[in-house]
Amino acid sequence: MFITFDGSDGCGKSTQQKRLGHCFQAQGYEVVLCHDPGSTALGNEIRHILLHGHELRIDNKTEMFLFMAARTQMVEEIIRPALQAKKIVISDRFLLSNFVYQGYAGGIPLKTLETVGQIAVEEMTPDLAIILDIPYEIAIQRIGNRNASDRMEQKGENYHRQVRNGFLKYATIYPDRYVVIDAVPPPNEVETAIRNVIHERYGIDLSCSPNEIGNR
Ligand code: TYD
Repeated sequence: MFITFDGSDGCGKSTQQKRLGHCFQAQGYEVVLCHDPGSTALGNEIRHILLHGHELRIDNKTEMFLFMAARTQMVEEIIRPALQAKKIVISDRFLLSNFVYQGYAGGIPLKTLETVGQIAVEEMTPDLAIILDIPYEIAIQRIGNRNASDRMEQKGENYHRQVRNGFLKYATIYPDRYVVIDAVPPPNEVETAIRNVIHERYGIDLSCSPNEIGNR
């Protein structure tokens, strides 16, 4: 099974990805976690350029290709082999982030993103794509607390408001593809909401024992 988390910066994806991974492992599943862009040696190099190449000129379309290239490598090196080995793959971001950041907020036409995305990931579509939704004001507080601003985070308020709207818009257009979960409540509540979705959709009960929860 292939599960993805997407959402605005600061929505808590990484935390929920790890928690969900632990829950699956506690039920005996083999789990592979990955992070888009990154997770491969090449992907990490590209990620560094995208997030920390402050001195570089990176055209919008070039930015799209770089994210796509990192993702292609991650699909071929990590996701596809893991799914073939019947593991559960949980990715922190995937193609939807490209559609929203570079498309909806960045101005690249959707048709272009769909065409390039098809080449980049081929048939690799998530079984479950979760969008963690958070208002801009709360996201900015959380990011501010992290005290580090990368190239994408520096794109400004308007851009990031568009990002949030973009995620919600996609979820409205394709309600069967994306599940939106309110990411404002405390992490335990968000986790429960995610586990409930998995139970409803796949009949998998992911209640973790108190011991495992304590070890997180
Ligand atoms: P990262 O530090 O990995 O943060 P996060 O935990 O929020 O994913 O930064 C990745 C940044 O790149 C983030 O601002 C979202 C952005 N991004 C895109 O613009 N397009 C993409 O296709 C992807 C995957 C990420």
